[in-house]
Amino acid sequence: MMEWTDRHCRFFHRLLTRRALLYTEMITTGAVLRGDRTRLLAFDPAEHPVAVQLGGSDPRALAECARICADLGYDEINLNVGCPSDRVREGRFGACLMAEPQLVGECVAEMKVGVTIPVTVKCRIGIDEQDPQESLDTLTRIVVAAGADALIVHARKAWLDGLSPRENRDIPPLDYHRVYRLKRAWPDLHISINGGIARVEDAAAHLSAVDGVMMGRAAYQEPWRLLAVDSLIYGAPAPYASPKAALEAFIPYVERELARGTRLHAMTRHILGLFQGVPGARAFRRHIAINAVKPGAGIAVLRDALSLVVDARAELAHIAA
Ligand SMILES: Cc1cc2nc3c(=O)[nH]c(=O)nc-3n(C[C@H](O)[C@H](O)[C@H](O)COP(=O)(O)O)c2cc1C
Repeated sequence: MMEWTDRHCRFFHRLLTRRALLYTEMITTGAVLRGDRTRLLAFDPAEHPVAVQLGGSDPRALAECARICADLGYDEINLNVGCPSDRVREGRFGACLMAEPQLVGECVAEMKVGVTIPVTVKCRIGIDEQDPQESLDTLTRIVVAAGADALIVHARKAWLDGLSPRENRDIPPLDYHRVYRLKRAWPDLHISINGGIARVEDAAAHLSAVDGVMMGRAAYQEPWRLLAVDSLIYGAPAPYASPKAALEAFIPYVERELARGTRLHAMTRHILGLFQGVPGARAFRRHIAINAVKPGAGIAVLRDALSLVVDARAELAHIAA
């Protein structure tokens, strides 16, 4: 998610779940080919498994970017066919590509030529006046023929005419059954569902109908939820017994990054929702909000904020169970 799932966020999320696949922000082909590649694409080996999401619609440029990302060690290349922003639309990529399924197919086919890692597509069920029954079927048929390894479907339309990107994440109604039907029609295709899934327990319920679940806003805004993923979804122990223990494990990373010149705020902005509902959570947020942005803010800000939170081990023991 743009501006959200940068490498600091992903490193932090990886402390909360060893198993879930993490995604980068959408990175455009132009940025990869002409921008500061090291800054845009760098990730920590601890982030694996990690997928890079590309935005673009030029098959050759996408193929080149896919190769670059595969060489850097990403585990999956994902093509964005769901972002509704005007800027993206002007560049003829994102959700507007739902209207150009043949071109999406060409993009997937070209990307597949140069890499051995999975190439996947994230899409909507349709855009504007499209009939979601037809638009999603057509896109699926074409990208599968092109070699796509999986599809992630944001289970609502995007209205490119009339709604802002933000509204397009909430206003068009969710239609999970459309995605379930797609899975029934394509039993051999790995299909993940996305949109409005707030709790890991709800994600587990979707898994009776589809192969995967992508959580966006809930995972970012309430990251403590991720601590339940390994046990509820994968039947494995949680990496840490409590959000507080997980955050303590984040400290060495933060210290390392501070030493490299990264600002504290760039990392702590991702952790603000970690203690939601826990005694001391408000004081924790406040301390970080006020102090982490100050010039030269150091690790003491994070340690002091942590000391304001009651050790939640007991209260949240059920998560680690
Ligand atoms: C701040 C923000 C940035 C986003 N950036 C991306 C992006 O880069 N690529 C993408 O495929 N979706 C992006 N999305 C959409 C989410 O991935 C997801 O499809 C949408 O929020 C619905 O899922 P959710 O209800 O679980 O959040 C973004 C959403 C938000 C809130």
